[in-house]
Amino acid sequence: MMSAEIFFITTAIDYTNAPPHIGHAYEKVLADVIARWHRDRGRPVFFLTGVDQHGQKVQQSAERAGVPPAEFAREITAKFKALWVKLGIANDGWAETTDLRHVAAVQDVLRQLHDQGDLYKARHSGHYSVRQEQFLTDKERNEQGEFGPEWGEVVFLEEENWYFRLSKYRPWLAEYLAAHPEFVTPAFRGTELANAVAKEAGDLCISRPKSRLAWGIELPFDRDYVTYVWFDALMNYATFAGYRARDGAGLPDFESLWPCDAHVIGKDILVPAHGIYWPVMLKAAGIEAMPKLLVHGWWNLGGAKVSKSAGNIIDPDVLADRYGTDALRYYLMRDIATGQDADFNEDRLRTRYQADLANDLGNLVNRTVSMAHRYRGGVLAEVGVTDAEAFALRELGIEAARNFDTAMEDGFRVHAALESAWLLITAANAHVEKSAPWKLAKDPAEAARLDGVLVALVEAARLASALVHPVIPAAADTLLEQLGFSGDLSTQWGRVRAGHRLGQAAPVFPRLESQES
Ligand code: ME8
Ligand code: MG
Repeated sequence: MMSAEIFFITTAIDYTNAPPHIGHAYEKVLADVIARWHRDRGRPVFFLTGVDQHGQKVQQSAERAGVPPAEFAREITAKFKALWVKLGIANDGWAETTDLRHVAAVQDVLRQLHDQGDLYKARHSGHYSVRQEQFLTDKERNEQGEFGPEWGEVVFLEEENWYFRLSKYRPWLAEYLAAHPEFVTPAFRGTELANAVAKEAGDLCISRPKSRLAWGIELPFDRDYVTYVWFDALMNYATFAGYRARDGAGLPDFESLWPCDAHVIGKDILVPAHGIYWPVMLKAAGIEAMPKLLVHGWWNLGGAKVSKSAGNIIDPDVLADRYGTDALRYYLMRDIATGQDADFNEDRLRTRYQADLANDLGNLVNRTVSMAHRYRGGVLAEVGVTDAEAFALRELGIEAARNFDTAMEDGFRVHAALESAWLLITAANAHVEKSAPWKLAKDPAEAARLDGVLVALVEAARLASALVHPVIPAAADTLLEQLGFSGDLSTQWGRVRAGHRLGQAAPVFPRLESQES
């Protein structure tokens, strides 16, 4: 049975071989925004994220640091956890692959695959990429016939290992992809995947000899080996949703969550991990309902990859301290189109903060609340729509709310959703200029008109704040409180009642210190 009512969202689990970077932060914020958007509309959500603690990368980083891998993974895990708290990531579940509940469930699946004949042992020799933790074939050679720098250190290995009969399930996968275009969003990534499936051949090596790599989940039927990190890591989406969990394990009820409505992942881990290994693992384990993948693009720096080796890490922790959590969240959602790449630029972050948050949204709420106090003692009259401009603002508000949700429903295009909210904010600010309440206030004959303008502005500012709440939750809560609508996340137009009392105005987006670079 699958459940339609709980929206189950997950992210890639981040490697604990190095501290979090801006790409990790982007992905978690994107998933958090989607989760919060559902919650704000009254739909139940289970949001799972976590860390990938096993594997060669972690073992190597730990060796370099001179600490045991478990300790190294624990320290980096603490950094991820602290950053997610700082960035307001409101996850319901937390996945750590060293968790014994996960380990037991992975071993249980391996035992089943072994018993049903889907695993076999074979000797293989070939080139192996330490960075990507995989054997390479001639397909991976570049035009010069070499394994390019993207593979990192490449060594020649001859090993006996355990293999998973991926090839047996390939026809099923090809058919599944053809029949289920909704498996991958955006669609062009689905095409990429289908092409890759048509070309791929061979089985998947799912073990590593302990002599070479000890930091992993032991194979339950061959103690000389640990499980390949991807086989272990991918299972997190099921195991932390309660798959094969014991009663009282403190995990959710798998039946009520599965399948995952959106695995939020970067474009680099679609092929082969999430697009090929994962559905085949599920199918082989006997899970028929397949999840859906939401594949996002990458944040680059001056066109180049954000990576530690390039020495160009932009620390999300520092950025959050410098500009505030909501400013960072807003920039990460506003300056990239879901599915596409973008270039990270701190000046753009500053400009967006100043122009969009401080000058547009912050100013709209601030002047609205201030005027309501100055002219009406902070209490509004209930009025219908009094003039053509207020009517136009109402129409715009209704449209903004509709377009916001459509953009989210159609490919989780958060940037486009934000654009629709800003059309309303811009129009509301224009309405202030046009109606000039400071003039109306001087003319007793315009009292009803002024009431109407204030009601329309409060309504527009409230609706805009509710719309942007998933993206900038802390700021939106404060704005709503100032408007006298604490906790009211309705995106309908028309919440102001006779006698509505506003809160106090206070700047929510303080001016940035000028900073010459
Ligand atoms: O791949 N911009 O972990 P990871 C946007 N442990 N997203 C980026 C990015 C960037 N510059 N750099 C990385 C792993 N990401 C595995 C996943 S899932 C069962 C196991 C994204 O720490 C990347 O695409 O290398 C991935 O989705 C996530 O960050 C974690 O990357
Ligand atoms: Mg569900």
